[in-house]
Amino acid sequence: MVDLADVVVASNRGPLAFRRDEAGALEPAPPGGGLAGSLRDLLEGSGATWVSCALSEADRAAQDAGLLSLPDLRLRTVAPDETTYDLAYDLVSNATLWFCHHHLFDLTRRPRFDQRWPEAWAAYRRLNRLIADEVAASAPGDGVVLVQDYHLALAPRLVRQARPDLRVVHFSHTPFADPGVLRVLPADCRRELLAGMAGGTCGFHTRRWAQAFEACCRDQGLDPPRTFASPLAPDPEKLLARVRSAACQEAGERLLARTGERALVVRTDRVELSKNVIRGFWAIDLLLELRPELRDRFVHLAFVYPSRQRLPEYLAYRAELEQTAAAVNERWARGDWQPIVVDVRDDPDRSLAALRLADVVLVNPVRDGLNLVAKEAPLVSERQASLVLSAEAGAAEELAEAAFVVNPFDVLQTATALADALTLSPAERQRRAERLRALVLAHPPRAWLDAQLAAAEG
Ligand code: G6P
Repeated sequence: MVDLADVVVASNRGPLAFRRDEAGALEPAPPGGGLAGSLRDLLEGSGATWVSCALSEADRAAQDAGLLSLPDLRLRTVAPDETTYDLAYDLVSNATLWFCHHHLFDLTRRPRFDQRWPEAWAAYRRLNRLIADEVAASAPGDGVVLVQDYHLALAPRLVRQARPDLRVVHFSHTPFADPGVLRVLPADCRRELLAGMAGGTCGFHTRRWAQAFEACCRDQGLDPPRTFASPLAPDPEKLLARVRSAACQEAGERLLARTGERALVVRTDRVELSKNVIRGFWAIDLLLELRPELRDRFVHLAFVYPSRQRLPEYLAYRAELEQTAAAVNERWARGDWQPIVVDVRDDPDRSLAALRLADVVLVNPVRDGLNLVAKEAPLVSERQASLVLSAEAGAAEELAEAAFVVNPFDVLQTATALADALTLSPAERQRRAERLRALVLAHPPRAWLDAQLAAAEG
């Protein structure tokens, strides 16, 4: 098996992020999204090298001040100029590739490939090259390179061209677009994208996404490279250590003081169109209409945190989800009870505390590579929480038998599943919670990393 000291990981977001406090001093920022946090848990102390982008002015200053370091992990960052980064991250990665892979297009508005596109694609290419050059410069002879996610789809081929001795894997944390949807990209870009990924062996969280990728390759007349499927998983011990921390325990006490004896239906997501928060609120609305006996009996906590706020779609989505929650509350609130508590704030301790205390966890994305929350919740639950889970989340492939699986577009089915989950007998609830835990533990986080190393070795 490969020695982790010979491994170079490359991702857009690195393990450490910084921001400025009110006085302008540098302070660590919470990690964004599950990928960087999970990778950090796996790689800390391993001697591996991790190449990522310095995302902000604070990150670059932290690097200059020598703050960018973790024990036994070699951190390298590249610092593209602001225009390059903004075009590559906002316009190509998030407004185009993310929308494509999640089938999120509003076909009347986006995608729009206009005069800015050639420049944006060139910036995406530049960013990928910067990362590939840094990888090529820091990888040991015959080393293994694990390139992560859609921001870096071109990097595998660039790395291989610069260093044919390296063994390269590309791992996608998103779903992969169906061939008909990938065709919205300009023809030369989609071919470059597929050929870029095919510079390595390509990994996905599920076979379904691997097959979509292979189908896209064939649709473009390319031979698909070798693919594999292996789902990411949370690290149970590290997760439980966070749950036990004073900050998380205190967050839990504050929550209980606010919600009292009522049952908790919890969601924790980025404010993200694919997470389908608004249909979740519609399902709560319908549930209260159809099942009067459940009124005043539960609170839906929607602890969502800001994400990609430079994209107008995300700002609009945030406003709409707040309005929808307000409308549902206006319809049903009585006395000191309001059915939905929505709070947009980046507070990982509070999110974890809510999962710990949840009676039901709602994970209903319209499409999701995996969804780590669905796999964290069973590990931290202290109330044998039930899981209402979208069939379109990669995690459903592992957890379906013990979750309430729903079509994320079907609000009535989601409302019914929430009602069933809230009224389960204690014995059935315990049986399902134990099974969920066992299913999550069956595929430990190290197995995900090992699958990539094995794929690299061929
Ligand atoms: C998803 C992507 C990750 C990304 C995360 C957070 O999980 O697969 O690559 O890091 O979202 O998004 P952000 O744009 O904040 O990095």
